[in-house]
Amino acid sequence: RKPKVPTDHAELERRARKAMSERAWAYIAGGAGEGTTMTANRAALDRRVIVPRVLRDVSVRNTGIELFGDTLPAPVLFSPVGAGALVRRRADVLIGRAAAQLGVPYIFSNQGSAPMEDVAAEMDRIRPGSPRWFQLYWSVDEDLVDSFLARAKAMGASAIAVTLDTTMLGWRPQDLNLGSLPFARAEGIDQYTSDPTFRDIVARRLKAVVDKQKPEVTPGAIRTLVSIARNIPGPFLKNLTAPESMESVQTFLSIYSRPSLNWDDIAGLRERTDLPIVLKGILHPDDARQAIDTGVDGIIVSNHGGRQVDGSIGAVDALAAIAPVVDGRIKVLVDSGIHTGADVFKALALGADAACIGRPHMYGLAIDGADGARDVVTNIIAELDLTLGLSGHTAVTDLDRSALSEV
Ligand code: FNR
Repeated sequence: RKPKVPTDHAELERRARKAMSERAWAYIAGGAGEGTTMTANRAALDRRVIVPRVLRDVSVRNTGIELFGDTLPAPVLFSPVGAGALVRRRADVLIGRAAAQLGVPYIFSNQGSAPMEDVAAEMDRIRPGSPRWFQLYWSVDEDLVDSFLARAKAMGASAIAVTLDTTMLGWRPQDLNLGSLPFARAEGIDQYTSDPTFRDIVARRLKAVVDKQKPEVTPGAIRTLVSIARNIPGPFLKNLTAPESMESVQTFLSIYSRPSLNWDDIAGLRERTDLPIVLKGILHPDDARQAIDTGVDGIIVSNHGGRQVDGSIGAVDALAAIAPVVDGRIKVLVDSGIHTGADVFKALALGADAACIGRPHMYGLAIDGADGARDVVTNIIAELDLTLGLSGHTAVTDLDRSALSEV
């Protein structure tokens, strides 16, 4: 039977594009600026080639790893992807189902399209305790940060991934040219609207506005709060309506992040959660060193899928520079541009403990819902296993640079 989800990336992309609205495609497939970082992600992978070995008895192979107390079938995770509702309603619940079916960790986005508790419940329904992480965008409001950390702990997160590369949204021409902004229709704010602390913040600010106690609250901020409040049940918020405006989206984006974030905050985070802390968006070896000095448990080498800084280093080139510096002291994950099992193999050979998959699983979701997201990652793992054996290796944990050459 013909598979619903194509087994090669080019066709996967083509079919996903057909299955998505123009607006969804622009947001999900798009990158920063001229797209050169996305190109660099692929170039860094394509320049490295696998040099297979033969006659090594590869009849029994092991793709499994241990990561932060979880036993994983393969060194693969689902990257956090916000605003998934552009593709499917409650996208995160569907992806959670896919991840639980595979036993592969799903990193829930702070800008998810379903409350984390709902995604966790779906995962537990399929496979109790199946691994999930929470990805944090550090809000300007510290109480909100604590609330997210507490919810993540309560819903069974194995780790917190703090995303550092998105203190502001990058320059994204595909969205800008359409005049389309994610979040304008409240996609990706469900972690917020389901949060008791966030509801308090909104209620307080709205009350202050109504009472005219805070004249400094800008019209844009008010519009945003009102548009967020539309999604919050509650008597006094009911009959409010709000225009979808650029300003309100920008104001929301200013609530979700704190551009003044610095290393002291990360050091302080250690006191606020006992979960492993993983810094997402590390590209410079000196930042990797500082991450270790700050006492975090892991990093994700990532340029956010080329969506933030145009003209930046390919993620796997950054990995090649960072892995020797880290030298096994903390976990090193990587994402951005990883499409296939062979790509995962290369990342592992360069020193990554695991790789995360972003857009490809969203393409599967667009084509065939939860099954599609699952099948994309199933295919990547299957090809990883074949690549492992066909190049003369039996365990992903044994891979090192000797498996690769550069062209
Ligand atoms: C992302 N990414 C992301 N990262 C994060 O930490 N929080 C988020 O909410 C999002 N949202 C998001 C939305 C969309 C549509 C995309 C494509 C990406 C980045 C993501 O976690 C990951 O770093 C990249 O997607 C990896 O690159 P590939 O696999 O898409 O090439």
